[in-house]
Amino acid sequence: MLERDNDLNAWDRDHFFHPSTHMGQHARGESPRRVIAGGEGAYITDTAGKRSLDAFAGLYCVNVGYGRTEIAEAIAAQAKELAYYHAYVGHGTEASITLAHMIMERAPAHMSRVYFGLSGSDANETNIKLIWYYNNILGRPEKKKIISRWRGYHGSGVMTGSLTGLHLFHNAFDLPRAPILHTEAPYYFRREDRSQSEEQFSAHCAARLEEMILAEGPDTIAAFIGEPILGTGGIVPPPKGYWAAIQAVLEKYDILLVADEVVTGFGRLGSMFGSDHYGMKPDLITIAKGLTSAYAPLSGSIVSDRMWQVLVQGSDELGPIGHGWTYSAHPICAAAGVANLKLIDDLGLVENAARVGAHFRKALGDALAGHAHVGEVRGDGLMAAVEFVEDRDARRFFDPARKVGPAIAAALLERGVIGRAMPQGDILGFAPPLCLTEAEADTIVAATQDAVTAVLGK
Ligand SMILES: Cc1ncc(COP(=O)(O)O)c(C=O)c1O
Repeated sequence: MLERDNDLNAWDRDHFFHPSTHMGQHARGESPRRVIAGGEGAYITDTAGKRSLDAFAGLYCVNVGYGRTEIAEAIAAQAKELAYYHAYVGHGTEASITLAHMIMERAPAHMSRVYFGLSGSDANETNIKLIWYYNNILGRPEKKKIISRWRGYHGSGVMTGSLTGLHLFHNAFDLPRAPILHTEAPYYFRREDRSQSEEQFSAHCAARLEEMILAEGPDTIAAFIGEPILGTGGIVPPPKGYWAAIQAVLEKYDILLVADEVVTGFGRLGSMFGSDHYGMKPDLITIAKGLTSAYAPLSGSIVSDRMWQVLVQGSDELGPIGHGWTYSAHPICAAAGVANLKLIDDLGLVENAARVGAHFRKALGDALAGHAHVGEVRGDGLMAAVEFVEDRDARRFFDPARKVGPAIAAALLERGVIGRAMPQGDILGFAPPLCLTEAEADTIVAATQDAVTAVLGK
């Protein structure tokens, strides 16, 4: 075991270019490295035998939990029977067609078709192309700009990294690229005017959006993209009335709405989709993570009926749509998706997320209430965040150089629980598997309270 670990450490340091990692520190062996070997339920184990409660479900994706043999067996059976055939020119497999049907049974009623990809990033890339195609078919070649939000996260590609509104993902990459614009984040805790109620702040966000549309010219704005609840930007639920106010503006100027449900799709908020949860009526829904619980890479763009009609008109005029990935609707990934969605139903995980999520968020709030450096405890369903501040009454934030968020995440890990230091702000995020029990939720809360005390005092 030791020898194997030594080899892995050396190979990792010398050959593996890790995503979202400090390259220099990792290569020099200055930052922690961890080789994960196994997982069961909400827990993972590393090659040193250390077990951790994964309160971020990987990257909020292992929704059914680790070690589900039902999905592993479905993957193996599909690989034996037919490892691959493409989906071009009308081809399908039993798994990919069945999965499309299962997704549409669960999606909001006005949605019509699903286009498969492999990652949340490529699904949003597909969305941008479909939006442009749609407006070209409708004879509106100028209507192409896409409005995203500061603190939104929509992927790491050239266009999807541009949609993302986090500085880390733009720095030194020459992003964002045109024609992507960013409007204000619906971040009530960080609002400038602290006298505003949630509803007033939502109206303010909608007014800022309308100002941007008018300044750019409504005929140039094609779509607005947002996560139902901000995820990587800080796990921030929308303030009251936000989506109603935003959708009224979009309707007024004939602007499409993309709901990026890569995190929220298939139960994370205690509802099948975040769009239903918050009363959104999107034209496109992005899905990924929870579709297969990350047992295999798979994503999708769900297209509304109104968009689908125009896309069909497009291929009647132009011929087959010139957009495809080799691995679109990959049968092994689709088999994982079918088994995963069945498991979510059989185990009642959407209901569990609502029930255990409410218990978890209340317990977390109670445990940290009154702490001088806890500015806010927030969340919805099985998503939660604790935001730390230097001075609670003045709402003054810590100097980012102090890295308070990462220090608390590290202290939490020492106590056997994985939370995520969110990339912008001192924010500790949680998004555990949807199979979490109340007892496991209590373990996360106790460890968090202890870690916060260790780093910031009582
Ligand atoms: C809301 C949202 N959209 C898109 C993505 C990108 O997905 P992927 O990393 O699979 O490309 C993510 C990833 O975290 C996400 O949270």
